[in-house]
Amino acid sequence: MEVYDKYFIPVYKRIKLNITRAEGSYLYDGETPYLDMFSGLGVNVLGHGNRAIKKAVTEQTGRYMHISNYFRSEPAVELAEWICGNTFAGSVFFTNSGTEAMEAGLKIIRKHSSITGKKDIIVFSKAFHGRTSGSASLSEPDISSVYTETAVPGIVRLPFNSGESLSRIDKNTAGVVIETIQGQGGVNVADRNFLIRLRELTEREGALLFIDEIQSGMGRTGKFFAFENYGIVPDICAAAKGIGGGLPLGALLVSEKYSKILGPGEHGSTFGGNPVSCVAGLAAVRQITASGFLDAVTTKGQILHAGLMKLKEEYPDLIGRISGIGLMTGVEILKGSERLPGLFLQNGILVNMTCGNILRLLPPLTIGENELEVFLSVFGAVLKEIVMK
Ligand SMILES: Cc1ncc(COP(=O)(O)O)c(C=O)c1O
Repeated sequence: MEVYDKYFIPVYKRIKLNITRAEGSYLYDGETPYLDMFSGLGVNVLGHGNRAIKKAVTEQTGRYMHISNYFRSEPAVELAEWICGNTFAGSVFFTNSGTEAMEAGLKIIRKHSSITGKKDIIVFSKAFHGRTSGSASLSEPDISSVYTETAVPGIVRLPFNSGESLSRIDKNTAGVVIETIQGQGGVNVADRNFLIRLRELTEREGALLFIDEIQSGMGRTGKFFAFENYGIVPDICAAAKGIGGGLPLGALLVSEKYSKILGPGEHGSTFGGNPVSCVAGLAAVRQITASGFLDAVTTKGQILHAGLMKLKEEYPDLIGRISGIGLMTGVEILKGSERLPGLFLQNGILVNMTCGNILRLLPPLTIGENELEVFLSVFGAVLKEIVMK
Protein backbone atom coordinates (compact mmCIF):
# COMPACT_ATOMS: atom_id res chain seq x y z
CA MET A 1 0.00 0.00 0.00
CA GLU A 2 2.93 2.36 0.68
CA VAL A 3 3.83 2.06 -3.01
CA TYR A 4 0.53 3.70 -3.84
CA ASP A 5 1.18 6.49 -1.42
CA LYS A 6 4.62 7.01 -2.88
CA TYR A 7 4.15 6.72 -6.64
CA PHE A 8 0.57 7.70 -7.43
CA ILE A 9 -1.05 11.11 -7.63
CA PRO A 10 -3.34 10.73 -4.62
CA VAL A 11 -6.73 11.04 -6.33
CA TYR A 12 -8.17 7.73 -5.15
CA LYS A 13 -9.09 6.67 -1.65
CA ARG A 14 -7.88 3.07 -1.88
CA ILE A 15 -9.48 0.26 0.06
CA LYS A 16 -6.69 -1.41 1.99
CA LEU A 17 -6.99 -4.90 0.52
CA ASN A 18 -4.64 -6.78 -1.74
CA ILE A 19 -6.94 -8.39 -4.30
CA THR A 20 -5.33 -11.48 -5.76
CA ARG A 21 -8.23 -12.95 -7.73
CA ALA A 22 -11.94 -12.55 -8.37
CA GLU A 23 -14.69 -15.03 -9.13
CA GLY A 24 -18.46 -14.61 -9.44
CA SER A 25 -19.66 -12.05 -6.86
CA TYR A 26 -16.46 -12.22 -4.82
CA LEU A 27 -13.05 -10.54 -4.71
CA TYR A 28 -10.34 -12.43 -2.84
CA ASP A 29 -7.55 -11.06 -0.69
CA GLY A 30 -5.47 -14.22 -0.53
CA GLU A 31 -7.98 -16.83 0.63
CA THR A 32 -10.40 -14.32 2.16
CA PRO A 33 -13.53 -13.68 0.06
CA TYR A 34 -15.29 -10.31 -0.05
CA LEU A 35 -18.79 -9.99 -1.46
CA ASP A 36 -18.58 -7.29 -4.10
CA MET A 37 -21.59 -5.00 -3.78
CA PHE A 38 -20.33 -2.42 -6.25
CA SER A 39 -18.78 -4.61 -8.97
CA GLY A 40 -15.87 -2.44 -10.06
CA LEU A 41 -18.10 0.65 -9.94
CA GLY A 42 -20.78 -0.95 -12.05
CA VAL A 43 -18.45 -2.49 -14.63
CA ASN A 44 -18.58 -6.20 -13.77
CA VAL A 45 -22.26 -6.68 -14.57
CA LEU A 46 -21.71 -10.40 -15.21
CA GLY A 47 -19.62 -10.82 -12.10
CA HIS A 48 -15.96 -11.76 -12.17
CA GLY A 49 -14.36 -14.42 -14.35
CA ASN A 50 -17.24 -14.83 -16.82
CA ARG A 51 -16.37 -17.84 -18.97
CA ALA A 52 -17.76 -16.67 -22.31
CA ILE A 53 -15.96 -13.33 -21.97
CA LYS A 54 -12.65 -15.00 -21.08
CA LYS A 55 -12.97 -17.38 -24.03
CA ALA A 56 -13.76 -14.59 -26.50
CA VAL A 57 -10.83 -12.51 -25.22
CA THR A 58 -8.38 -15.42 -25.42
CA GLU A 59 -9.42 -16.21 -28.98
CA GLN A 60 -9.21 -12.59 -30.11
CA THR A 61 -5.79 -11.96 -28.55
CA GLY A 62 -4.62 -14.93 -30.62
CA ARG A 63 -5.83 -13.17 -33.81
CA TYR A 64 -4.85 -9.55 -33.19
CA MET A 65 -5.14 -7.00 -30.40
CA HIS A 66 -4.95 -3.65 -32.18
CA ILE A 67 -4.91 -2.69 -35.82
CA SER A 68 -6.17 0.97 -35.70
CA ASN A 69 -9.41 2.42 -36.95
CA TYR A 70 -7.98 2.69 -40.47
CA PHE A 71 -9.02 -0.94 -40.81
CA ARG A 72 -12.38 -2.61 -40.59
CA SER A 73 -12.12 -4.79 -37.51
CA GLU A 74 -14.58 -7.68 -37.40
CA PRO A 75 -15.17 -7.52 -33.61
CA ALA A 76 -16.07 -3.80 -33.76
CA VAL A 77 -18.33 -4.40 -36.76
CA GLU A 78 -20.11 -7.27 -35.02
CA LEU A 79 -20.66 -5.27 -31.86
CA ALA A 80 -21.88 -2.22 -33.82
CA GLU A 81 -24.23 -4.46 -35.77
CA TRP A 82 -25.53 -5.97 -32.54
CA ILE A 83 -26.09 -2.55 -30.97
CA CYS A 84 -27.84 -1.11 -34.02
CA GLY A 85 -29.92 -4.26 -34.40
CA ASN A 86 -31.05 -4.36 -30.76
CA THR A 87 -31.40 -0.72 -29.72
CA PHE A 88 -32.66 2.57 -31.16
CA ALA A 89 -29.22 3.34 -32.60
CA GLY A 90 -28.66 3.95 -36.29
CA SER A 91 -24.92 4.34 -35.81
CA VAL A 92 -22.33 4.04 -33.09
CA PHE A 93 -18.94 5.49 -32.17
CA PHE A 94 -16.69 3.41 -29.90
CA THR A 95 -14.53 4.94 -27.18
CA ASN A 96 -12.39 3.67 -24.31
CA SER A 97 -14.45 5.14 -21.48
CA GLY A 98 -17.70 6.75 -20.49
CA THR A 99 -16.23 10.22 -20.42
CA GLU A 100 -15.11 9.90 -24.01
CA ALA A 101 -18.57 8.76 -25.09
CA MET A 102 -19.93 11.91 -23.42
CA GLU A 103 -17.38 14.03 -25.28
CA ALA A 104 -18.42 12.46 -28.57
CA GLY A 105 -22.08 13.21 -27.84
CA LEU A 106 -21.26 16.76 -26.84
CA LYS A 107 -19.45 17.20 -30.12
CA ILE A 108 -22.54 16.06 -32.02
CA ILE A 109 -24.72 18.53 -30.12
CA ARG A 110 -22.25 21.34 -30.84
CA LYS A 111 -21.89 20.43 -34.51
CA HIS A 112 -25.68 20.32 -34.84
CA SER A 113 -26.01 23.66 -33.05
CA SER A 114 -23.48 25.20 -35.43
CA ILE A 115 -25.96 24.36 -38.19
CA THR A 116 -29.16 25.37 -36.37
CA GLY A 117 -27.81 28.40 -34.49
CA LYS A 118 -29.24 27.08 -31.19
CA LYS A 119 -26.93 27.89 -28.30
CA ASP A 120 -28.09 26.38 -25.00
CA ILE A 121 -27.03 23.00 -23.67
CA ILE A 122 -29.24 22.16 -20.70
CA VAL A 123 -27.74 20.06 -17.91
CA PHE A 124 -28.94 19.26 -14.40
CA SER A 125 -28.03 19.75 -10.78
CA LYS A 126 -26.19 16.78 -9.19
CA ALA A 127 -25.32 15.40 -12.63
CA PHE A 128 -22.11 13.49 -13.21
CA HIS A 129 -20.95 12.88 -16.77
CA GLY A 130 -17.19 12.48 -16.43
CA ARG A 131 -13.97 14.27 -15.61
CA THR A 132 -12.60 15.68 -18.86
CA SER A 133 -13.16 19.40 -19.42
CA GLY A 134 -16.17 18.89 -21.66
CA SER A 135 -17.90 16.16 -19.66
CA ALA A 136 -17.09 17.93 -16.38
CA SER A 137 -18.73 21.06 -17.80
CA LEU A 138 -21.92 19.04 -18.09
CA SER A 139 -21.58 17.88 -14.48
CA GLU A 140 -22.30 19.55 -11.16
CA PRO A 141 -18.93 21.15 -10.29
CA ASP A 142 -18.85 19.70 -6.75
CA ILE A 143 -19.62 16.22 -7.98
CA SER A 144 -17.02 16.09 -10.76
CA SER A 145 -14.46 17.82 -8.51
CA VAL A 146 -13.65 20.60 -10.95
CA TYR A 147 -12.79 24.03 -9.78
CA THR A 148 -13.84 26.17 -12.70
CA GLU A 149 -17.48 26.46 -13.63
CA THR A 150 -17.41 25.26 -17.22
CA ALA A 151 -15.13 24.94 -20.22
CA VAL A 152 -18.00 24.65 -22.69
CA PRO A 153 -20.02 27.68 -23.82
CA GLY A 154 -23.81 27.66 -23.60
CA ILE A 155 -24.20 25.39 -20.56
CA VAL A 156 -27.41 26.09 -18.64
CA ARG A 157 -27.61 24.17 -15.35
CA LEU A 158 -31.14 23.60 -14.04
CA PRO A 159 -32.67 21.70 -11.11
CA PHE A 160 -33.18 17.96 -11.73
CA ASN A 161 -36.79 16.72 -11.70
CA SER A 162 -38.20 20.24 -11.60
CA GLY A 163 -41.18 21.34 -13.66
CA GLU A 164 -39.66 24.81 -13.88
CA SER A 165 -36.62 23.38 -15.63
CA LEU A 166 -38.91 22.02 -18.32
CA SER A 167 -40.21 25.50 -19.00
CA ARG A 168 -36.67 26.57 -19.94
CA ILE A 169 -36.60 24.30 -22.99
CA ASP A 170 -37.27 26.47 -26.01
CA LYS A 171 -36.14 27.24 -29.54
CA ASN A 172 -32.64 28.17 -28.27
CA THR A 173 -32.08 24.73 -26.75
CA ALA A 174 -29.49 22.81 -28.74
CA GLY A 175 -29.47 19.78 -26.48
CA VAL A 176 -30.43 18.38 -23.08
CA VAL A 177 -28.06 16.05 -21.26
CA ILE A 178 -29.41 13.84 -18.49
CA GLU A 179 -28.82 10.62 -16.56
CA THR A 180 -31.94 8.47 -16.22
CA ILE A 181 -30.71 7.71 -12.72
CA GLN A 182 -28.06 10.03 -11.35
CA GLY A 183 -25.40 7.73 -9.91
CA GLN A 184 -22.59 9.76 -8.42
CA GLY A 185 -25.10 12.47 -7.47
CA GLY A 186 -26.87 10.16 -5.01
CA VAL A 187 -28.91 7.57 -6.96
CA ASN A 188 -31.62 10.06 -7.91
CA VAL A 189 -34.17 8.57 -10.27
CA ALA A 190 -35.66 10.83 -12.94
CA ASP A 191 -39.37 11.30 -12.27
CA ARG A 192 -41.53 9.55 -14.80
CA ASN A 193 -43.47 12.64 -15.90
CA PHE A 194 -40.33 14.79 -15.91
CA LEU A 195 -38.42 12.54 -18.30
CA ILE A 196 -41.38 11.84 -20.56
CA ARG A 197 -42.18 15.57 -20.80
CA LEU A 198 -38.50 16.30 -21.42
CA ARG A 199 -38.61 13.96 -24.41
CA GLU A 200 -41.76 15.64 -25.74
CA LEU A 201 -40.33 19.15 -25.37
CA THR A 202 -36.94 18.37 -26.89
CA GLU A 203 -38.69 16.77 -29.83
CA ARG A 204 -40.98 19.77 -30.23
CA GLU A 205 -38.07 22.23 -30.15
CA GLY A 206 -35.67 20.20 -32.30
CA ALA A 207 -33.22 19.86 -29.40
CA LEU A 208 -31.17 16.69 -29.06
CA LEU A 209 -31.96 14.56 -26.02
CA PHE A 210 -28.67 13.03 -24.87
CA ILE A 211 -29.11 10.35 -22.20
CA ASP A 212 -26.14 9.19 -20.16
CA GLU A 213 -26.67 5.47 -19.47
CA ILE A 214 -23.08 4.84 -18.46
CA GLN A 215 -24.03 3.69 -14.96
CA SER A 216 -27.72 2.87 -15.33
CA GLY A 217 -27.46 0.93 -18.61
CA MET A 218 -26.35 -2.61 -19.52
CA GLY A 219 -29.25 -4.26 -17.74
CA ARG A 220 -28.77 -2.68 -14.34
CA THR A 221 -32.40 -1.64 -13.94
CA GLY A 222 -33.88 -4.79 -15.45
CA LYS A 223 -33.99 -3.18 -18.90
CA PHE A 224 -31.03 -2.97 -21.25
CA PHE A 225 -31.15 0.84 -20.89
CA ALA A 226 -32.88 2.52 -17.95
CA PHE A 227 -34.78 4.94 -20.21
CA GLU A 228 -36.75 1.93 -21.52
CA ASN A 229 -38.54 1.95 -18.15
CA TYR A 230 -40.10 5.25 -19.29
CA GLY A 231 -41.10 4.19 -22.78
CA ILE A 232 -38.98 6.93 -24.37
CA VAL A 233 -36.13 6.92 -26.88
CA PRO A 234 -33.31 9.50 -26.86
CA ASP A 235 -31.51 10.98 -29.87
CA ILE A 236 -28.12 10.05 -28.51
CA CYS A 237 -27.02 7.88 -25.63
CA ALA A 238 -23.70 7.16 -23.93
CA ALA A 239 -22.90 3.66 -22.71
CA ALA A 240 -19.77 2.35 -21.02
CA LYS A 241 -18.84 0.42 -17.85
CA GLY A 242 -20.41 -3.04 -18.44
CA ILE A 243 -20.43 -2.70 -22.22
CA GLY A 244 -16.81 -3.90 -22.40
CA GLY A 245 -17.42 -6.97 -20.25
CA GLY A 246 -14.68 -5.74 -17.89
CA LEU A 247 -12.36 -4.27 -20.53
CA PRO A 248 -12.17 -0.55 -21.38
CA LEU A 249 -14.92 0.32 -23.84
CA GLY A 250 -17.53 3.00 -24.26
CA ALA A 251 -20.04 3.66 -26.99
CA LEU A 252 -22.00 6.61 -28.24
CA LEU A 253 -25.27 5.53 -29.80
CA VAL A 254 -26.88 7.89 -32.27
CA SER A 255 -30.37 7.65 -33.74
CA GLU A 256 -30.72 7.24 -37.50
CA LYS A 257 -31.79 10.89 -37.84
CA TYR A 258 -28.53 12.28 -36.42
CA SER A 259 -26.33 9.42 -37.57
CA LYS A 260 -24.21 11.30 -40.05
CA ILE A 261 -23.76 14.68 -38.34
CA LEU A 262 -20.04 14.11 -37.84
CA GLY A 263 -18.02 13.40 -40.95
CA PRO A 264 -14.52 12.09 -41.74
CA GLY A 265 -11.81 13.67 -39.61
CA GLU A 266 -14.29 15.37 -37.25
CA HIS A 267 -13.77 12.87 -34.45
CA GLY A 268 -11.67 9.83 -33.66
CA SER A 269 -9.86 7.73 -31.08
CA THR A 270 -6.70 5.64 -31.43
CA PHE A 271 -7.88 2.86 -29.15
CA GLY A 272 -11.66 3.36 -29.40
CA GLY A 273 -13.36 0.10 -30.39
CA ASN A 274 -10.37 -2.02 -29.48
CA PRO A 275 -10.99 -5.50 -30.94
CA VAL A 276 -10.35 -7.35 -27.68
CA SER A 277 -12.73 -5.05 -25.78
CA CYS A 278 -15.32 -5.48 -28.53
CA VAL A 279 -15.35 -9.29 -28.40
CA ALA A 280 -15.67 -9.08 -24.62
CA GLY A 281 -18.48 -6.55 -25.10
CA LEU A 282 -20.30 -8.76 -27.57
CA ALA A 283 -20.10 -11.72 -25.19
CA ALA A 284 -21.46 -9.46 -22.44
CA VAL A 285 -24.41 -7.93 -24.30
CA ARG A 286 -25.49 -11.35 -25.60
CA GLN A 287 -25.66 -12.70 -22.06
CA ILE A 288 -27.41 -9.63 -20.67
CA THR A 289 -30.14 -9.96 -23.27
CA ALA A 290 -30.42 -13.76 -23.12
CA SER A 291 -33.87 -15.04 -22.23
CA GLY A 292 -34.79 -14.48 -18.57
CA PHE A 293 -31.65 -12.54 -17.60
CA LEU A 294 -33.23 -9.09 -17.29
CA ASP A 295 -36.34 -10.47 -15.58
CA ALA A 296 -34.06 -12.04 -12.98
CA VAL A 297 -32.45 -8.62 -12.42
CA THR A 298 -35.91 -7.17 -11.76
CA THR A 299 -36.74 -9.96 -9.31
CA LYS A 300 -33.44 -9.56 -7.45
CA GLY A 301 -33.98 -5.79 -7.37
CA GLN A 302 -37.35 -6.40 -5.70
CA ILE A 303 -35.81 -8.75 -3.13
CA LEU A 304 -33.13 -6.17 -2.33
CA HIS A 305 -35.63 -3.34 -2.11
CA ALA A 306 -38.01 -5.32 0.15
CA GLY A 307 -35.11 -6.25 2.45
CA LEU A 308 -33.96 -2.65 2.64
CA MET A 309 -37.48 -1.43 3.43
CA LYS A 310 -37.62 -3.91 6.30
CA LEU A 311 -34.33 -2.59 7.65
CA LYS A 312 -35.65 0.97 7.32
CA GLU A 313 -38.67 -0.01 9.42
CA GLU A 314 -36.37 -1.48 12.03
CA TYR A 315 -33.92 1.44 11.99
CA PRO A 316 -35.92 4.56 11.03
CA ASP A 317 -33.31 6.83 12.65
CA LEU A 318 -30.49 5.35 10.58
CA ILE A 319 -32.03 4.79 7.16
CA GLY A 320 -33.62 7.61 5.18
CA ARG A 321 -34.50 7.62 1.50
CA ILE A 322 -34.23 4.36 -0.45
CA SER A 323 -33.97 5.01 -4.18
CA GLY A 324 -33.17 3.34 -7.48
CA ILE A 325 -34.50 0.81 -9.96
CA GLY A 326 -33.53 -2.86 -10.21
CA LEU A 327 -29.97 -3.43 -8.98
CA MET A 328 -29.01 0.26 -8.92
CA THR A 329 -29.93 1.27 -5.41
CA GLY A 330 -29.21 4.13 -3.05
CA VAL A 331 -29.72 4.03 0.70
CA GLU A 332 -29.47 7.28 2.61
CA ILE A 333 -27.62 6.73 5.87
CA LEU A 334 -28.74 9.25 8.47
CA LYS A 335 -26.16 8.45 11.15
CA GLY A 336 -22.75 6.77 11.24
CA SER A 337 -22.25 6.75 7.43
CA GLU A 338 -18.51 7.27 7.89
CA ARG A 339 -18.27 3.96 9.77
CA LEU A 340 -20.36 1.96 7.34
CA PRO A 341 -17.76 0.83 4.73
CA GLY A 342 -15.33 -0.24 7.48
CA LEU A 343 -17.99 -2.23 9.33
CA PHE A 344 -19.09 -3.95 6.12
CA LEU A 345 -15.46 -4.73 5.28
CA GLN A 346 -14.93 -6.37 8.69
CA ASN A 347 -17.88 -8.59 7.77
CA GLY A 348 -16.53 -9.53 4.34
CA ILE A 349 -18.58 -7.15 2.22
CA LEU A 350 -17.39 -4.36 -0.08
CA VAL A 351 -19.64 -1.34 -0.39
CA ASN A 352 -19.37 2.08 -1.97
CA MET A 353 -20.64 5.42 -0.68
CA THR A 354 -21.44 8.49 -2.74
CA CYS A 355 -22.29 12.05 -1.66
CA GLY A 356 -20.88 11.18 1.77
CA ASN A 357 -23.93 9.36 3.13
CA ILE A 358 -25.55 7.49 0.25
CA LEU A 359 -24.79 3.78 0.23
CA ARG A 360 -24.69 3.05 -3.50
CA LEU A 361 -25.34 -0.59 -4.31
CA LEU A 362 -24.28 -1.77 -7.78
CA PRO A 363 -23.81 -5.52 -7.33
CA PRO A 364 -23.05 -7.83 -10.25
CA LEU A 365 -26.33 -8.51 -12.05
CA THR A 366 -25.52 -12.21 -11.66
CA ILE A 367 -25.54 -11.97 -7.87
CA GLY A 368 -27.40 -14.85 -6.25
CA GLU A 369 -30.54 -14.31 -4.18
CA ASN A 370 -28.71 -16.06 -1.32
CA GLU A 371 -25.86 -13.53 -1.65
CA LEU A 372 -28.36 -10.69 -1.43
CA GLU A 373 -29.72 -12.29 1.75
CA VAL A 374 -26.18 -12.42 3.17
CA PHE A 375 -25.75 -8.73 2.36
CA LEU A 376 -29.08 -7.81 4.01
CA SER A 377 -28.31 -9.80 7.12
CA VAL A 378 -24.86 -8.20 7.46
CA PHE A 379 -26.43 -4.77 6.85
CA GLY A 380 -28.77 -5.45 9.79
CA ALA A 381 -25.81 -6.38 12.00
CA VAL A 382 -23.89 -3.28 10.89
CA LEU A 383 -26.83 -1.01 11.70
CA LYS A 384 -27.18 -2.66 15.12
CA GLU A 385 -23.53 -1.97 15.78
CA ILE A 386 -23.95 1.69 14.80
CA VAL A 387 -26.91 2.01 17.17
CA MET A 388 -24.99 0.41 20.03
CA LYS A 389 -21.93 2.66 19.74
C1 LIG B 1 -23.26 8.53 -15.28
C2 LIG B 1 -21.79 8.54 -15.59
N1 LIG B 1 -21.35 9.27 -16.62
C3 LIG B 1 -20.05 9.29 -16.95
C4 LIG B 1 -19.11 8.59 -16.24
C5 LIG B 1 -17.66 8.61 -16.62
O1 LIG B 1 -17.29 7.38 -17.13
P1 LIG B 1 -15.76 6.92 -17.14
O2 LIG B 1 -15.27 6.93 -15.74
O3 LIG B 1 -15.77 5.57 -17.79
O4 LIG B 1 -15.03 7.90 -17.98
C6 LIG B 1 -19.53 7.84 -15.13
C7 LIG B 1 -18.56 7.12 -14.31
O5 LIG B 1 -18.79 6.74 -13.21
C8 LIG B 1 -20.90 7.81 -14.81
O6 LIG B 1 -21.36 7.11 -13.77
